Amino acid sequence: MIPHLPPPALPGLPVPVSWSEDGEAIDILDQTRLPVEERRLRLESVVAVADAIRTLRVRGAPAIGIAAAMGLALGVKRRAAQLAGSSGEPDGALEEGLGRDLELLRATRPTAVNLAWATERVARALREAEGGGLAARVAAVVREADAIALQDREMCRLIGVHGLEVIPAEGACALTHCNAGALATGGMGTALAPVYTAHARGIPISVFASETRPLLQGARLTAWELARTGIGVTVVTEGMVGALMARGLVGLVLVGADRVAANGDVANKVGTYGLAVLARHHGLPFYVALPRSTFDPAAPSGVHIPIEERDPAEVLGVAWGGAEPSGVGAWNPAFDLTPAHLVTAFISDGGVLRPPFPASIARVLAATPPGPLTPRHGRNP
Ligand code: MRU
Repeated sequence: MIPHLPPPALPGLPVPVSWSEDGEAIDILDQTRLPVEERRLRLESVVAVADAIRTLRVRGAPAIGIAAAMGLALGVKRRAAQLAGSSGEPDGALEEGLGRDLELLRATRPTAVNLAWATERVARALREAEGGGLAARVAAVVREADAIALQDREMCRLIGVHGLEVIPAEGACALTHCNAGALATGGMGTALAPVYTAHARGIPISVFASETRPLLQGARLTAWELARTGIGVTVVTEGMVGALMARGLVGLVLVGADRVAANGDVANKVGTYGLAVLARHHGLPFYVALPRSTFDPAAPSGVHIPIEERDPAEVLGVAWGGAEPSGVGAWNPAFDLTPAHLVTAFISDGGVLRPPFPASIARVLAATPPGPLTPRHGRNP
């Protein structure tokens, strides 16, 4: 089991999800409280983990994959402890429990494929340890959850290194959306990894963070983590982005992704599509940074990606405050689809992928993933 709160990927930034100190729970940073307070929560059951994912206390595609993997492993651990008192493992008891937990976790947030990818890996680890005894089976699922977290950290680092290819040596001002930084991953982030890496190498870089209505991940989380690490950050509302580009204040757009289809269509935080259209209009490069766990080869194109719809109250909350918005409707898709033809390149842990995307995506998915893991561990289910 990796230790409670391993050293952060970047000094000064908190680890969003880890095991608790006693190894009996999951410890998360409550991201709904940032930037007001840094409050950590102890999640003692799979139900609590599912609730934290649903309510965005832990969020960002890679981080929810890690939280769900650890949550599943925790469920197996708890069940094994109960069974240990009885006369051994009744046939399939651990699998049955894990099946129920899987369903619960997968229903939380349907768009990010990392959640399905990570939980499938833990389920497979349990299957493969069949017949090994309770202790060995628990060790196998915990090991797999830890491998997912460690591999994500390494993939983020590699995204940062490969991303330098698209950052001009004389420096740049990048526009990003939502939060695809350290708070959203097990490492230094995806879209923000090239920013952090450039900064560490002395390349002048600053960031415009779009506010990201309705839950303000850009204004609250991206701004917070960049300011903490000493990188210049300026918040803009989404409505200001066109003016920003028209004035020539942005050199490139860098966003993350929740799921990318085999043809390169991108599901990411709602608002991403608008940025991509504006970037094309203004002749700016539009880059999508992601680990290989965010590609979904089973989705031929974007129409096959489920888009999460959230409570309309999230949209009306800020404007109406405590007042009852009677007679007023709101639409609240959490993500949108950016067609592949608007993407300049993908920055992945396997390198910078250029069009034609079906071929470059297939190539990176077929290559050996980073970390001390077998190739099959890097593939999507
Ligand atoms: O609803 P959220 O905050 O989980 O949405 C997060 C995003 O859209 C990120 O851009 C994406 O998950 C990539 S995180 C590295």
